[in-house]
Amino acid sequence: MREYVLLINSEEKLLLEKGKVINTKFGVIDTRKIEYGDIVETKKAKFIAIKPNPIDLLQKCRRGAQVVLPKDASQIVAITGITYGWRCLDAGTGSGFLAIFLGNIVGRKGKVYTYEKRKEFYKIAKRNIEICGLEKVIEIKNDDVKKFRERNLDLVTLDMKNAHELVEKVAKRLKPGGWLVVYSPHIEEQIRVIDEMKKHGFHIYATIENLQRRWKSLYGYTHPEPSGILHTGFMTFGRKTL
Ligand SMILES: C[S@@+](CC[C@H](N)C(=O)[O-])C[C@H]1O[C@@H](n2cnc3c(N)ncnc32)[C@H](O)[C@@H]1O
Repeated sequence: MREYVLLINSEEKLLLEKGKVINTKFGVIDTRKIEYGDIVETKKAKFIAIKPNPIDLLQKCRRGAQVVLPKDASQIVAITGITYGWRCLDAGTGSGFLAIFLGNIVGRKGKVYTYEKRKEFYKIAKRNIEICGLEKVIEIKNDDVKKFRERNLDLVTLDMKNAHELVEKVAKRLKPGGWLVVYSPHIEEQIRVIDEMKKHGFHIYATIENLQRRWKSLYGYTHPEPSGILHTGFMTFGRKTL
């Protein structure tokens, strides 16, 4: 298993594989000798070496299908209250980014079961989960999520076409009070999901779109960045009741 070290200072950061001699824009860095907590100095810069967490390691992950971004994953965290020990089901895995955000929170006492039907995305996501060191927390299956058998779930996240077709089954497999979150770029799918949730005993918490603007400061003037991603997707949150 590859190990990484994060070199960081007030202006720059470098995520490097350990055990190698690497040519960087700051000069050659020998990561074989670096311990976490060391000060690392090159001709051009000085860094502190720290152990990267799973979210830092996402930088090294490949993207196959479109991923859920931090701005949207953070809404799932804040609204559902997901915490250490929760049992989650996620589909489709895609590149595994949402599964990794969830796995990082539920930790070893919890579990994230994630389903990806396409072999090529399954392989990318499996590797990404290993890079982030979460293979003991996230169980990835190369299968159609319609066949899932897990029960007693605290949270189900669906980011795939026709998620509404799964609402009835999810309702039977969630704990009372458990959450279903459906992410999709299209409002038509959210409407179908809400109709299904109402039929199957969910309390609809909300449908949201979350827009985030980054700001930058240059030459003493600060303003929003003129371009960036605004619309990614809508999310509907529902909670299993009777
Ligand atoms: C937009 S991506 C998911 C991205 C993922 N949430 C992430 O953050 O990386 C949607 C994925 O769902 C998969 N998918 C669609 N229907 C599925 C099904 N019935 N079972 C399992 N995977 C499915 C697709 O192959 C695709 O990789």
